[in-house]
Amino acid sequence: MFETFENNTVREKAEDEYSKKVIASLEAHDSEKELAEELISRLVLLEKESKFNEDSRKIERGMENVLDLLEERHADRYPQLRFSKEQKADAKIAAILHDIGKSGPVEATPAEQEAIVKIFALEKPQNPDSLVMEIIPEIFGDDKVEDIGRLLKNCGIDEKTTMRQFWDKHAYWTHDILEKYPQGLAKRARIIAASHHIDHGINPYGLPESEIPMAANIIGTLEDYVETLERRALIALDQYEASVRRGSLSHEEALGWVRKNLAKFEKDELMNLLLDAIDELGKRQEIFTQKKSTANKFEDMSAQQEKPDKQIEEADEKQRRKERRMVLASELSYVQEAWRFPGIDPDSYAKLKAEEEELLGFCTPIDELIRRFENEGMKVVIVPWKNNKGHNIHVLPFGSDDIENDSIPPEKLQITEFLHEDFKEFILLSRG
Ligand SMILES: [Fe+2]
Ligand SMILES: [Fe+2]
Repeated sequence: MFETFENNTVREKAEDEYSKKVIASLEAHDSEKELAEELISRLVLLEKESKFNEDSRKIERGMENVLDLLEERHADRYPQLRFSKEQKADAKIAAILHDIGKSGPVEATPAEQEAIVKIFALEKPQNPDSLVMEIIPEIFGDDKVEDIGRLLKNCGIDEKTTMRQFWDKHAYWTHDILEKYPQGLAKRARIIAASHHIDHGINPYGLPESEIPMAANIIGTLEDYVETLERRALIALDQYEASVRRGSLSHEEALGWVRKNLAKFEKDELMNLLLDAIDELGKRQEIFTQKKSTANKFEDMSAQQEKPDKQIEEADEKQRRKERRMVLASELSYVQEAWRFPGIDPDSYAKLKAEEEELLGFCTPIDELIRRFENEGMKVVIVPWKNNKGHNIHVLPFGSDDIENDSIPPEKLQITEFLHEDFKEFILLSRG
């Protein structure tokens, strides 16, 4: 399968499963043979040390499905949404390459690249304001702190760099890598790839402000509408995929999350067509499914092999939900104001009432507690275990610090319309 490649070390040596997966995913692209060796070896590293490539492949499939649906639904009204073969190909290769910057700056050595990927791959919740250097011992071990510190310094990471600053670098690094190795990649593909966090102001190509939050009725008037649309598609799919995977949210929850994040594009007609397409495909659970025509054998094969690992996957999933819940709890607990109390879920209320009969006098009566919550609002409090190996998360009336008597388990809260999206997600994850 690989003998057609000449003078190409990674391609020739594509023996291990990581290289095979990367090569197989690129083979569907016409420009594949032109891509620089450097890009491929970075993708192989990401495949080996992280889930990012798997995510990118999913997003690539999402891109194809979404563009096809937009074309099918709207091309009559908006002839511009009839995409050319090249436009589709550019958007898809952009999806594959968008997070290549998670392998570090363009000039990073292999050792530096590996260190950077490992830090990105750490999925444990991190406080964005914490320092990169603080987590080095945890990932690499105490004895490696100095070595890794030196490697990171070469990449522009020092003892003052926060996790937020670190994460934000990857789209710039994607830009630099693709600009240095542009072979086989249209400018349009490079721009789409490196602009995928533009909604957070990360804008390596310095796209004009007017192209970011676009006014309505732009379709048809903007010259580069397709590129703009494809850029938005990548942003939306990237966020959707991440929230489904990391937060294990349902389709509705994930789409709600994406809409909230992209609220500033609300009046953007392109974005709305796009989100509707994602909505339709998501409801049918077909966003990330592979089209029969392009299905590649390796992906099918590995899907079958992975089946026995289902238990491991489930355990991973559980861990991810746990971590996501913790991230949300710490965000919610940072807030200095009271949250409006949504009430207790009716089933849980009945149970709490029944328990109260038995425990009479041992804790604050539930109706009294509810009155306090209604008057004061609520807050989230995290209490670490004595051995520091875990946490309990409590919901208390805003004015109370009496965890023993006044705490309500978060899963018992009712989910109402007015509740903040993060709070809703937190309650759902608490219910397990
Ligand atoms: Fe990214
Ligand atoms: Fe991504």
